[in-house]
Amino acid sequence: MKKVVRKAVFPVAGLGTRFLPATKVSPKEMLPVVDKPLIQYALEEAVAAGIEVMVFIVGRSKGAILDHFDKAYELEAELANRGQAETLTIVQNIVPPHVTCVYIRQAEALGLGHAVACAKAVIGDEPFAVILADDMIDDEQSGCLAQMMRVFEDRQCSVLCVQTVQPSETGNYGIVAVSTVSDRLSKVDAIVEKPKPDQAPSNLAVIGRYILTPAIFDKLKVVPRGAGGEIQLTDAIAMLLADETVLAYEFEGQRYDCGSKLGYLAATVKQSLKHAELKEPFKKFLQALDLD
Ligand code: UTP
Repeated sequence: MKKVVRKAVFPVAGLGTRFLPATKVSPKEMLPVVDKPLIQYALEEAVAAGIEVMVFIVGRSKGAILDHFDKAYELEAELANRGQAETLTIVQNIVPPHVTCVYIRQAEALGLGHAVACAKAVIGDEPFAVILADDMIDDEQSGCLAQMMRVFEDRQCSVLCVQTVQPSETGNYGIVAVSTVSDRLSKVDAIVEKPKPDQAPSNLAVIGRYILTPAIFDKLKVVPRGAGGEIQLTDAIAMLLADETVLAYEFEGQRYDCGSKLGYLAATVKQSLKHAELKEPFKKFLQALDLD
């Protein structure tokens, strides 16, 4: 019987040091792009891909994420009193009724691999998705995760989302060596975390979307601490390669690295230019800028 991906893990326990002081008390994932926080874009992408159980790995000062996906009695009553029906509907429909949110605390920020391992009790023996909300991916067709789900449905193995990056940027990513399977799809032969450009096996970088088989949990249990003293998901995937096929999928769409200030600003500008009410006045504002 074909396996189905029903659960997604959102590791949101990182410290977000690149956005300090904004992230001192407020989670990076709650940074808004126009009027929605990054984590909501990520949840919507998961819903569009058919995910029903959202597992958030949270750390200290991430309470705003729980509140954002919870009912807000006072706000809802106030909006109803004021007759702001449209706004009330927006607030009430952030999480669709068929979706369940689960929160697990990662007591120490020991790395992305450790964060994913924290989800084991909820994921059990099923394939699952991992979404890093600070990688915002705009694909108007179906969403990046939905594209990856189609690959999983067909191939029934782990799928990593990849993008070609500048050779000088390999030190920021997990980098894969691959053999081509078909258009956009290749088989991962090797994977290495944050290699220097002269040691990188390619410039194909893993970005913040994964579909993983539950076998990854056994690898995460034994993988030694890697780059930065953290338990790296990349290192566990490297171990998985010895037992299972892992595919790399080049997604369709536009990715914004909202964990960096430049990527975040780019996402904000691009989304503003797509916003029904903002696009015309914002375009005028940009055109009037004297950029020299
Ligand atoms: P990053 O490497 O982007 O780290 O983590 P960060 O802490 O969020 O941000 P900077 O680099 O300090 O600015 C990649 C993803 O893994 C999660 C983060 O929340 C982010 O989504 N993560 C990282 C955890 O959930 N736990 C960890 O221990 C580390």
